[in-house]
Amino acid sequence: MVDVVVVGSLMIDLVSVVDRIPKLGETIHGRSFQQNFGGKGANQCVAAGRLGASVALIGNVGDDQYGTQYLAELKNNSINTEFVQQVSGCNTGIASIWVDGKGQNSIIITANANERLTIEDVTRAESLIKTAKIVICQLEVPQEVTLAALKMAKKHNVRSIFNPAPAVKDLSTTFLQYTDIFCPNETEAELLCGFPVDSDESCQRALTFFLEQGARVPVITLGERGAAFATKEHPDMQTVKTDAVVPVDSTGAGDAFVGALACLLATKPDTDFAEAVSRACKYASLTVQSAGTQPSYPTRQQLHMSFFH
Ligand code: RIB
Ligand code: NA
Repeated sequence: MVDVVVVGSLMIDLVSVVDRIPKLGETIHGRSFQQNFGGKGANQCVAAGRLGASVALIGNVGDDQYGTQYLAELKNNSINTEFVQQVSGCNTGIASIWVDGKGQNSIIITANANERLTIEDVTRAESLIKTAKIVICQLEVPQEVTLAALKMAKKHNVRSIFNPAPAVKDLSTTFLQYTDIFCPNETEAELLCGFPVDSDESCQRALTFFLEQGARVPVITLGERGAAFATKEHPDMQTVKTDAVVPVDSTGAGDAFVGALACLLATKPDTDFAEAVSRACKYASLTVQSAGTQPSYPTRQQLHMSFFH
């Protein structure tokens, strides 16, 4: 039995730090290069685990060296890897990432082994999923697999968090009917609603739209402006602010938020929801201040704040 089960992706992040993103056809010099363990599913799992939740990941890597290294890394992070498979004849997922001088990024993902996750893989893990406190999903594995995981969580009354990332335009509304906590960022929310989410008024409209589509608790993350959420019972928007920070690398901040929120809801179920969102925002803003995704996720022991203790 584990607190948090993540059904999702694992990628190797190949990160070039540049002064600015190159123009089409242009070659520029990078400032530095890092190879990191990433992928939204694994990032969220690592964040929840570093904050003290017991965690398991359901996902695929390739049978290449990256896959072998990644499995060892998951074990180092005390993640249950019973359902992480090395797919034979397949490469591990790769994310080519550029981070500019303002900490902003552009990413190309090549899903590779992640594309080969199947509904049967989720079915095999039913005994794990049904005893979890939270199940988390994203969109870096086939959509039908994500939907199967959300349906399975619902069937067993397990709370789910669905992070619809990377952004897609035509997501079936079925996803929201099986989602408890629906957690897009502004860009993802905008694509799904079809209007810009750039003011209090439009944010409220987006939350209402997601509630109408069946999500129980939509939470829109707003980067340095914090987050906004609504619930079925209290459809009026509530906002959570964060402190301004100097960004070094914002890659994976959304994953840190999702992992932290899941950890709090699973391990401290009495926490008020707005308070949990606020703490998850604080955790995410810490990760923005250093390089990489997982390398920038502090453990509970490293945090000087008392809120995850
Ligand atoms: O959300 C950040 C992640 O997105 C990176 O780690 C990269 O792997 C991409 O999947
Ligand atoms: Na970071």
